Amino acid sequence: MKLIETKDYKEMSEKAAEIIIAQVKKKPNSVLGLATGETVLGTYAALVYDHRQHRTSYQYIQTVNLDEYIGLGPNHPNSYRYYMNEHLFSHIDIPLSQTHIPNGLAADVEEECKRYEELIEKLGGIDLQVLGIGRNGHIGFNEPGTPFDSITHIVELAESTREANSRFYSSLEEVPTHAITMGITTIMKSKQIILLASGEKKAHILSQLFEREVTLNIPASILKTHPNVVVIADKEALSLVSKDQRKVYV
Ligand code: GLP
Repeated sequence: MKLIETKDYKEMSEKAAEIIIAQVKKKPNSVLGLATGETVLGTYAALVYDHRQHRTSYQYIQTVNLDEYIGLGPNHPNSYRYYMNEHLFSHIDIPLSQTHIPNGLAADVEEECKRYEELIEKLGGIDLQVLGIGRNGHIGFNEPGTPFDSITHIVELAESTREANSRFYSSLEEVPTHAITMGITTIMKSKQIILLASGEKKAHILSQLFEREVTLNIPASILKTHPNVVVIADKEALSLVSKDQRKVYV
């Protein structure tokens, strides 16, 4: 794991966008693994800006998103399909047919998980996966305790995750209880991974991530065993990580 420390959210977003753009240029038919949430919004805005300014093309890119809520369709403003169209896909030149997100309305959800895992394999695997981190260390929706050998599966969301995401709903009751998520093995098979973290809300989990051994209690800790991971985090998010700890990862 390598660490890039940035002064703030803007610089973190620009660094992440730089890595994604370099990948797209190097391999114009890359498979990009994408995340949702607040952290990656600035990165997507930077990609859209770059596309407008420099015409970086996504015409041959395929995208696979990490996760989707069960029960929310593409027109629901809190579905991740809606989020991706709104914040990225409708502003760049990627054909929507090349953007893949688990179907939260699938009649047979188990079957949908199988289909999604096979789809990623058929596409040739993920070249570059973008990750955020949950306050409890989740990646995608792989909550603490998720086996490291998991593939795309159904999850019951942790109460803390539902609470954290309830800011987008009018009440906690409205937040879905289940989701489909890529598994930890699915994520770990990616050739390169970038994990983004910003703000003091993420300071505690980042200190845990850097200080503790690989443990099921912190799903993101498995990333330490991946050969090509870059953590891009701003000063606030790193405020509880000691200087000595940081040095290990530079
Ligand atoms: C969410 C998403 C993750 C995201 C993480 C952090 O629940 N399922 O993909 O990376 O939690 O979210 P945020 O960036 O809003 O803090």
